[in-house]
Amino acid sequence: MKISDIILIFFFVLLPYAFADLKVGFYGRSCPSAETIVRRAVQRRFKRDRAITADLLQMHFHDCFVRGCDGSLLIDPSRGRGSEKQAGPNVNLDGFDLIDEIKSVLEKACPSTVSCADIVTLATRDAVALAGGPRYNVPTGRRDGLVSNPNEVNLPGPSLSVTHAFQSFREKGFLLQEMVTLLGAHTVGFTHCSLVQSRLSSFGNRDPTMDLALDAKLGRICGSTRRPARNDPQIVLDQNTSFVFDNEYYRQIGNKRGVLHIDQQLALDASTRRTVAGFAANGESFKRSFASAMIKMGSLDVLVGNAGEIRKNCRVFNNH
Ligand code: HEM
Ligand SMILES: *[C@@H]1O[C@H](CO)[C@@H](O)[C@H](O)[C@H]1NC(C)=O
Repeated sequence: MKISDIILIFFFVLLPYAFADLKVGFYGRSCPSAETIVRRAVQRRFKRDRAITADLLQMHFHDCFVRGCDGSLLIDPSRGRGSEKQAGPNVNLDGFDLIDEIKSVLEKACPSTVSCADIVTLATRDAVALAGGPRYNVPTGRRDGLVSNPNEVNLPGPSLSVTHAFQSFREKGFLLQEMVTLLGAHTVGFTHCSLVQSRLSSFGNRDPTMDLALDAKLGRICGSTRRPARNDPQIVLDQNTSFVFDNEYYRQIGNKRGVLHIDQQLALDASTRRTVAGFAANGESFKRSFASAMIKMGSLDVLVGNAGEIRKNCRVFNNH
């Protein structure tokens, strides 16, 4: 076989198969207003609450990395049955009420047609654009899953090294650069003091990779070993343009102003620092890469065709 034949087979036979039944504009006939309904609702929310961009980005990530992008994260625990929402990394997630709001409008416009998994994907895409991030077309056609088990939630933690964090991304088929790109989502949103005090001198843990002024600032927010701040305060992940979807995250970690250990390590590890410097220097290249990496993340282990179901209520299985 010639190399050109192999390339042709890849583009026309294998590539469409990899995204089987997910396509841009999947609801074009079955629910033409679907993407507009989602966009309007996200716009309304964003106007009064800019934190929605971070809420949705984290929700989309935590959904897709556990059993694929199938809305399994959206299920509420019920008597005798747990759900992914109860797992440690998910207890602080927010924004589920926006998904409910969008779902109820869509159920009136086109009953049992648009999946909850697609709502999360589309709403995240729209919220990123509203915060200044890239605009991109995203394929749809996901179906909602039938399982949500807290014991299956196995997301990377913030204190991992780059190598260890990458293990979970590599298992999902990502390249290291794509992990660096997706972590750029930390250009918006918050963490909590409890996840950062292991790096702060006020807690007896001075981390030399953190800028001294940032160490002092976070010490004022989080308190000290003897007098920890009450109610675990929030800390912005991007210490400069905290609500803007830009490349400032990479510039901050390049200046020792990363908040989570994993953020700071990206700028220091020999395997990732060049990508970080490249994104810090070129915001457009970051945004382009981010859009492709999000499309890839949104295609992880999706249910298509007749698999799964189209939930009526994103919080409960139809046959509950
Ligand atoms: C190695 C990979 C990652 C690790 C270890 C990690 C870890 C974390 C941690 C610990 C927090 C703070 C949670 C809290 O204090 O409540 C956080 C927040 C966040 N993460 Fe990640 N993350 C990773 C990858 C990602 C990816 C791939 C995305 C999305 C594409 C993402 C989006 C976000 C967002 C937007 C927030 C802020 C949430 C909010 O303010 O509501 N993260 N992440
Ligand atoms: C904050 O971000 C703006 C816009 O990217 C930049 O011009 C400025 O130098 C940054 N400031 C700091 C202290 O990093």
